[in-house]
Amino acid sequence: MTPPERAAAAAPLLAVSGLCKSFRGLRAVADASLTVMRGEIVALIGPNGAGKTTLFNLVAGALAPDAGSIRLRGVEIAGQRADRVCAAGIGRTFQIVRPFADMTVLENTMVGGFRGTADRALARERAERALRVLDMWPERHRPASTLTLPAGKRLEVARALASEPELLLLDEVMAGLRPTETDRMVAAFRRLNAERGVTILLIEHVMRAVMALAQRVYVLHHGEIIASGTPQQVTSDPRVLRSYLGSAAAPH
Ligand SMILES: Nc1ncnc2c1ncn2[C@@H]1O[C@H](COP(=O)(O)OP(=O)(O)O)[C@@H](O)[C@H]1O
Ligand SMILES: [Mg+2]
Repeated sequence: MTPPERAAAAAPLLAVSGLCKSFRGLRAVADASLTVMRGEIVALIGPNGAGKTTLFNLVAGALAPDAGSIRLRGVEIAGQRADRVCAAGIGRTFQIVRPFADMTVLENTMVGGFRGTADRALARERAERALRVLDMWPERHRPASTLTLPAGKRLEVARALASEPELLLLDEVMAGLRPTETDRMVAAFRRLNAERGVTILLIEHVMRAVMALAQRVYVLHHGEIIASGTPQQVTSDPRVLRSYLGSAAAPH
């Protein structure tokens, strides 16, 4: 390794620093900083409206920040377009699932598989791999319009995964799942992380999943990171418990 390569390997995979985004005076993300190391699983939690999805949109290039820095492997990516960020190795899911209804599960997943390639066979191979990991292989020829909400969420993950990202951003993909379905998805993410080295940053309300998956947790409240640490540390932090009071979504 050359010295610059060594520096890049030691740097966090993702380093967000002083990130700010306002919508007509509303500070959705206010001076937020966080890091994700290679190989980590990190959770971002916080009450509804805390700014979690906005932070993801900033990292993924769907929105441009007002201020702050977003570095991937030490390289600034803040303000870059979503397709550039995807090409750089960040895959993301959308909180609102909107597959192409007329296309099959496999075809929808292949949309993600075309990252950095126009090779249809390669896109298909990547999509098939993603569907196998997520236990969606038997459903691959179904039209996406016939999927239940939980299956739609898994398809959303499969599409992101088919782009073979180094960093996977998951936005509440376990919301509305039954505990057994949550456990299946948790197991799939563990396998991805352990066997394929995928680094994961997940927004999640389902604390059962956060506790099972995350090595570290950041808590966002009114756009600010108010706590970070192990799942045990943050869930016993009085500031965190207070931030959820009066909110519909207490950590559960
Ligand atoms: N595109 C937008 N335009 C205006 N306000 C927005 C937009 N996106 C999010 N917001 C507002 O920013 C705040 C944070 O929203 P969001 O990031 O979706 O929170 P979370 O994902 O934590 O529930 C909310 O008050 C929301 O209404
Ligand atoms: Mg959200």
